[in-house]
Parts: sequence; C-alpha cells; structure tokens
Amino acid sequence: MRIIIFGPPGAGKGTQARLLEERRGLTQISTGDIIRTAMKRETPIGKEAKAYVEQGELVPDTVVRKLAEQAIADEAYDDFVLDGYPRTIQQAEWLTEFLTEHDTPLHAVVSLQVPDEVIVDRLSKRRIHKETGDTYHLDLDPPPDDVDPSLIVQRPDDQPATIRNRLSVYREQTAPLEAYYQERDVYYAVDGVGDIEAIYTRITTTLDDIPTAAGA
Ligand code: AP5
Ligand code: MG
Repeated sequence: MRIIIFGPPGAGKGTQARLLEERRGLTQISTGDIIRTAMKRETPIGKEAKAYVEQGELVPDTVVRKLAEQAIADEAYDDFVLDGYPRTIQQAEWLTEFLTEHDTPLHAVVSLQVPDEVIVDRLSKRRIHKETGDTYHLDLDPPPDDVDPSLIVQRPDDQPATIRNRLSVYREQTAPLEAYYQERDVYYAVDGVGDIEAIYTRITTTLDDIPTAAGA
C-alpha cells in the first residue's frame, strides 16, 4: 500500500507512521528524519538544510525532492508511508508525476485533524532519544526508567517561537494540499485527538475500507 500521513507539525505523523511500519510492514519515509540525520552527519545536504530547519522554514523543494525520490525508489515504489512529504503544491505535483511514471499511484492521504492548542502541548513536551530517534511526550508517553536521561533531548525546532513559525508555514504552504488531494479522491480525514492506540485504530479502519489492486 502507498500512503501519505498528513497533518500539521506535532499532529502525530511520526508516531503513527512508526506503528504502521511495525505492524503493517509499510516503510516510514520521513523527510524530517532523513534531514535530521544528514544534519547530524554534517553532509552537504545536512549543512544546507540546517538553517531552514532550525528556523522552522521549509528546506528548498529541489533538495527534499532528491531525498524523497531516493527513499521511494529504495522501497521499489511500494509499501511505504510518507511522513512529512509532500509539504508544498510543487512537491505534491512532482510526486503525482513521479508515481504515475512508475504506475504506482497513492492509495490514500490520511490527514490527522488536531487543534493548535493540542499541537503546542505535544511539541513543547516532546523529547527524543538522541541515538534511536524514539519519540516521547513528558506527560503522556514518558521515556522508560531504564533509558539513560542524558540521551533524551529536545528537538531544536521545538522551541516556542519556532513552533509558532512552523504552524504558520504549515497554514500557508502545506494546508492547501488538503484540497489538492480531495480533488484526486484519495483524501481521508481522521480525528488525531485521543490516545495513540485509538488513533491508530481509526487510521487502520480507514485504510482497510480502501479498495487496493490485488491486495497491494
Ligand atoms: P518534520 O520532522 O516532518 O516535522 P513536522 O512536520 O513539523 O512534524 P513533527 O515531526 O514535529 O510532528 P509529527 O506530526 O511527526 O508528530 P509526532 O509523532 O512526533 O520536519 C521538520 C523540518 O524538516 C521542517 O520544519 C522542514 O524544515 C524540514 N522538512 C521536512 N520535510 C520537508 C519537506 N517535505 N519539504 C521541506 N522541508 C521539509 O508527535 C508529536 C509529539 O506528540 C510527540 O511528543 C509524541 O510523543 C506526542 N504524541 C503523538 N501522538 C499523541 C497522542 N495521540 N496523544 C498524546 N501525545 C501524542
Ligand atoms: Mg515527525
């Protein structure tokens, strides 16, 4: 199956994409994670992306496109969940063209609906494991006791001013994709408030109702 998990920063895209990977065998393709790894390794792409990410701006389309193209090709164009890509109309148009060329169109764009106040709470209390990338929430999903606390850090773009900018970038540049995918009949809105398992069940119930060719 080929899907996008869509939503504003902090909507739970990464959390749910990881569950879909573990339980449904779909590979999570997170352009944010790929970019953060490149930043950590100080590769040319990482160095180029750093200033954009830390200010909560989008990394230029041409840079991210190469990352998405490679990651999708690595999965042989199937069984993936895109997390954080596409984020502009230009990226969405490129993706449609790219998948059409390979005869592997999207089955669904699952859009997590989460109000701003929930997002700000989730992002300001998010912590990540420096080495594994595991994501926690200080109140609702805290790091287990056996994890070394010095490895638990905050993402640099989870500072309040940057969170506000990411939300405004989302509204201006990314939210228009909802209409883009509605027009293409692949858009499914899912309530993204509640506990993680309940949301996962809503997503999989939605996916199970979608007709896919030959069990794709
Ligand atoms: P990216 O890493 O994609 O960040 P984002 O879209 O801002 O989304 P987040 O990762 O912050 O949130 P999420 O929806 O994954 O939520 P999560 O599951 O972690 O992108 C980062 C940056 O990279 C961008 O700003 C940009 O600069 C660049 N970039 C990436 N892709 C790009 C592209 N295509 N084009 C251009 N630039 C690009 O959950 C959040 C928190 O909530 C966690 O603490 C989690 O534990 C908690 N949580 C999750 N679900 C629940 C729940 N149900 N109840 C309670 N807590 C929950
Ligand atoms: Mg994420």
